[in-house]
Amino acid sequence: MESQRQNVGILAMDIYFPPTCVQQEALEAFDGASKGKYTIGLGQDCMAFCTELEDVISMSLTVVTSLLQKYGVDPKQIGRLEVGSETVIDKSKSIKTWLMHIFEEYGNSDIEGVDSTNACYGGTAALFNCVNWVESSSWDGRYGLVVCTDSAVYAEGPARPTGGAAAIAMLIGPNAPLAFESKLRGTHMSHVYDFYKPNLASEYPVVDGKLSQTCYLMALDSCYKRFCAKYEKLEGKQFSILDADYVAFHSPYNKLVQKSFARLLFNDFLRDASSVEENAKEKFAPFASLSSDESYQNRDLEKVSQQLAKQLYDIKIQPSTLLPKQVGNMYTASIYAAFASIIYNKHKSLDGQRILMFSYGSGLASSLFSLKLHMGEHPFSLSNIADVLNISEKLESRHVFSPEKFVENMVLMEHRYGAKGFVTSKDRSLLSNGTFYLTEVDSMYRRFYAKKSGSEDAGETDVSCENGKLNAH
Ligand code: ACO
Repeated sequence: MESQRQNVGILAMDIYFPPTCVQQEALEAFDGASKGKYTIGLGQDCMAFCTELEDVISMSLTVVTSLLQKYGVDPKQIGRLEVGSETVIDKSKSIKTWLMHIFEEYGNSDIEGVDSTNACYGGTAALFNCVNWVESSSWDGRYGLVVCTDSAVYAEGPARPTGGAAAIAMLIGPNAPLAFESKLRGTHMSHVYDFYKPNLASEYPVVDGKLSQTCYLMALDSCYKRFCAKYEKLEGKQFSILDADYVAFHSPYNKLVQKSFARLLFNDFLRDASSVEENAKEKFAPFASLSSDESYQNRDLEKVSQQLAKQLYDIKIQPSTLLPKQVGNMYTASIYAAFASIIYNKHKSLDGQRILMFSYGSGLASSLFSLKLHMGEHPFSLSNIADVLNISEKLESRHVFSPEKFVENMVLMEHRYGAKGFVTSKDRSLLSNGTFYLTEVDSMYRRFYAKKSGSEDAGETDVSCENGKLNAH
């Protein structure tokens, strides 16, 4: 088995996001925010959201079914399935058990793994678990599957435009086109109250927005230092941001990504990386003696760093911003949506390149890690992954809601959260074929889902998941 276990990583990916969204420009006007606050200030274009028909379970069912079908993977070949999510639908029953619907139908109930939760970091914990499993002595030769699924919603107020929703599935195994550099991981974990969900009756978090921004940057600094130290020990040479071809950040909103990349450049200056240009050294020099705490609050440093980083940002970061700017914060799926955007935009030129990844979950848990890319072989090739992701078409086929309709939907979802004994709307016209949707929550809080089949109007061929069976009716 040892010889088969080279280049463990991501073999295949797919993404699903709801077909319903609201434009940030319209939302900022509706909210009475100053013009440009959401679009330029936060750097966001559009925000996806779930209607009453969709949730983290339905999105996961949709994306996993789609991945297995599009890459021709036999469900019996999955030996581990891990889900990362912070959207709590049930305090005991994992989302993973819901996904067993798909596999039990094929006689496969021999699948390890459950859900991982810590804000936006759960997907990375799930991914590390799967990669570690394939690299371990308990690996049985089958694939791992990771699902990141979240509906990011906030109460009315400044955080609301930083929502979003999506599910991403990633197939894990050896000889992957997206291979982990497993020895290169820098992690920083700490106890803070920057964003948390103590009110179990509400889907909304309690959030200290300003603190969360600082915590994010502190975690980035710490992870980057550790990552560089590991690289330098292993490779015997200095690491700088120039050694990464692209960087995918957890993207709550684009402005924080702009600041974060600029911060990496400042880190290279502080570490005296030989790659930092003379001009940058001169401009950073006045800030060299700031304490870390002072440096997070210093607006001049922020401005200078962003100016110095602008050219590299356009090359190394911009290709990752497509989905995060269009879909919004997808919590656990956010960093992998940034990663998917790079593959979608650049797949023809990624052979041999390195992508650095920064995963952040409030509370807090964070890691910086890297992947090396290879063209791969069909169906597990970069070009096929880009085809399956099909991002432009998925974005273009969305339905834009007015802010009024969006808010109406949010109010309905507030009532539905934790509720029982209701059926959902019969109008599924906005969903595309193959999408799973919620039909009912019964008096015992049991949830029922169906799959839109294409003969919706006939109302006869939906597939429903009830009591562990996929039924046609
Ligand atoms: N035109 C252009 N830019 C503007 C305008 C305008 N009309 N108005 C404001 N801005 C800029 C501000 O200057 C600021 O940019 P800066 O940071 O470069 O100065 C930006 O827009 C945001 O404005 P703020 O006044 O700082 O925004 P506010 O405090 O109202 O809310 C926040 C922003 C804190 C991010 C809020 O949306 C939030 O709490 N979101 C959730 C928390 C979050 O996402 N944290 C990130 C890490 S944790 C996680 O992933 C959940």
